Amino acid sequence: MNTEDELLPVLTEHEIAERISQIGAQITSDYRGKDLVVIGILKGAFIFMADLIRKIDLPVLVDFVRLRSYGASTESDGNVSISKDVELPLKGKHVLIVEDIVDTGYTLKYLKELLSLHKIESAKICCLIDKKERRKVDIDVEYVGFEIKKGFLVGYGLDYDEQYRNLAGIYHLNPGYNAKGFRPSER
Ligand code: IMP
Ligand code: MG
Repeated sequence: MNTEDELLPVLTEHEIAERISQIGAQITSDYRGKDLVVIGILKGAFIFMADLIRKIDLPVLVDFVRLRSYGASTESDGNVSISKDVELPLKGKHVLIVEDIVDTGYTLKYLKELLSLHKIESAKICCLIDKKERRKVDIDVEYVGFEIKKGFLVGYGLDYDEQYRNLAGIYHLNPGYNAKGFRPSER
């Protein structure tokens, strides 16, 4: 870790695991008898996705997309593009999108529009963390792990400049805090 950064614990590995078990059980009962394809958004959702699908007790197909959003480094401005598309045929499938954090909502709005071109049966969203108060566009998120109001989070797949994805829990990051001695404005 960069010793200049301050990391404050937000969610433990245990708290995350407990919540994922609950969501997995809910998804299992909601999708019983349906053709389910779970689509993870790279890279941030890879650990959440891995843990979540093992709590879904149904036949399930797995795919990934990679999206890029542009704008200031701390916030997307709605300019989203795809850099890795889905590979499985989705026609007639029930799609569950798995995302790490829903923030402005631009990323998911873009992906939902893109997936609707595939003649899918349904599309729902499951996110680990919902920063609901920061939403810029209206988007339904059917399964939410935790609602967190503000702060930049790292760990459990979430990065800051590609660092910290391997932390087992989730932390609030104050970059450079230990060097500067003050917290940059929280997002
Ligand atoms: P948005 O909903 O389009 O604004 O973008 C959400 C994306 O921004 C997520 O997929 C994350 O990759 C990233 N993001 C938003 N907030 C955080 C955070 O606190 N830590 C790490 N990544 C974040
Ligand atoms: Mg992301």
